[in-house]
Amino acid sequence: MWGGRFDSGPAAIMGEITPSIDFDKRLAGEDLAGSKAHVRMLAVEGIISKDDGQAILRGLEQIEKEIADGSLVFKRELEDIHLNIEARLAEIIGPAAGRLHTARSRNDQVVTDFRLWVRSACERADGGLLALQRALFAQAEKHVATIMPGFTHMQVAQPVTFGHHMMAYVEMFARDRGRFEDARKRLNESPLGAAALAGTSFPIDRDNTAKTLGFARPMRNSMDAISARDFALEYLAACVITATNLSRLAGELVQWSTPAFGFVKLSDAFTTGSSIMPQKRNPDAAELVRGKTGRVLGDFVALATVIKGLVLTYGTDMQEDKERVFDAADTVELCLAAMAAMIADLTAQPDKMRAAAEPGYPTATDLADWVVRVLKKPFREAHHIAGSIVKLAETKGVALDQVPLAEMQGIEPAITKEVLAVLSLESSVNSRMSLGGTAPARVKEQIAYWKGLLK
Ligand code: ARG
Repeated sequence: MWGGRFDSGPAAIMGEITPSIDFDKRLAGEDLAGSKAHVRMLAVEGIISKDDGQAILRGLEQIEKEIADGSLVFKRELEDIHLNIEARLAEIIGPAAGRLHTARSRNDQVVTDFRLWVRSACERADGGLLALQRALFAQAEKHVATIMPGFTHMQVAQPVTFGHHMMAYVEMFARDRGRFEDARKRLNESPLGAAALAGTSFPIDRDNTAKTLGFARPMRNSMDAISARDFALEYLAACVITATNLSRLAGELVQWSTPAFGFVKLSDAFTTGSSIMPQKRNPDAAELVRGKTGRVLGDFVALATVIKGLVLTYGTDMQEDKERVFDAADTVELCLAAMAAMIADLTAQPDKMRAAAEPGYPTATDLADWVVRVLKKPFREAHHIAGSIVKLAETKGVALDQVPLAEMQGIEPAITKEVLAVLSLESSVNSRMSLGGTAPARVKEQIAYWKGLLK
């Protein structure tokens, strides 16, 4: 394809280091779409003849079928997907195949393919996140009023509901969707027609090819079009953040499903046994989702490191971009599917959740708030009074609402028996009525908000 000024062939080791076909064959569909758009435009503009245009299109369609049925054998000697397809085209239609590459370079070709691929990947990530949100939402609907301990510092803090906890992740994954949506929108400009780097002397119509390929517009600067890989980095960044959020949820599943917590049960379908300990039920998929965060971050770091030293415009270093993106996409899509399935599968264990919420005096804040509200004390003073009552309860080994009123009054004489009403887990949860709070009435509002959006 490029041997005109060479006297001898490449060294054997070049055949090892240069080919990208083993991985960039995944761009076949995008490459064919890009070539079809390009050749139609060339024919419309009279840059090639209508007959050649027709022949090339027919050839490309045959190649599409050969790829679909697996009969096209890719060759490493032909380096990459672009040269493999062009070589096959020449076998099928003869010398007219050589006109396809008029006013084009592999440099604009590869990045056109890659933008199209990443665009679809953004859409798939969005679909995976939506499915996960739906699974979380379904659990939330079931458990609007199921009480569990809310933690700060991993210490029992205040009672919350499992529905509230599930809806927290619905919000988190909504922002992840927003990041993929933004990345998609920003990357959706066509580099095709930038040619090698400087544009072309042929009278091409870049608006035409941009439109055919579903791009919003052609990129304004041909050098930027060839050089830019920030779209891939932005996609990877969205993947990293999604993987990070998934990892937190996975970590909670691991913790919740351990017998020491027992907040949720994963069915046999999502746990594995131990080869030595017959009692074990290991949450492997959750652990793997958590573990795979590292490789997705690695993908981002690897590509950022490749790109950071590159002068404009193209350098073969950039060939390293694809495997990182493919790996991150495969990983995130797999993790999203596994997580959605686990969330759908899990059975909450309200008794265990409740039992874990009882100790640790999680309604001490409610006691302090009552002292502020009813006795009109400043919060700092109320905090001190509640703290002293917690200490008393602790020495007696009883719950807050089991401390005899007279003994509470020994600490704060103005306390009345009305205080008992705020010390139960239910009344604590029900009282958190501020916007976004854990009161079932407020969680129901969140559920109502998302119901339409997750349809
Ligand atoms: N396989 C190459 C890549 O992935 C395609 C572009 C090659 N361009 C070039 N001038 N060698 O980046």
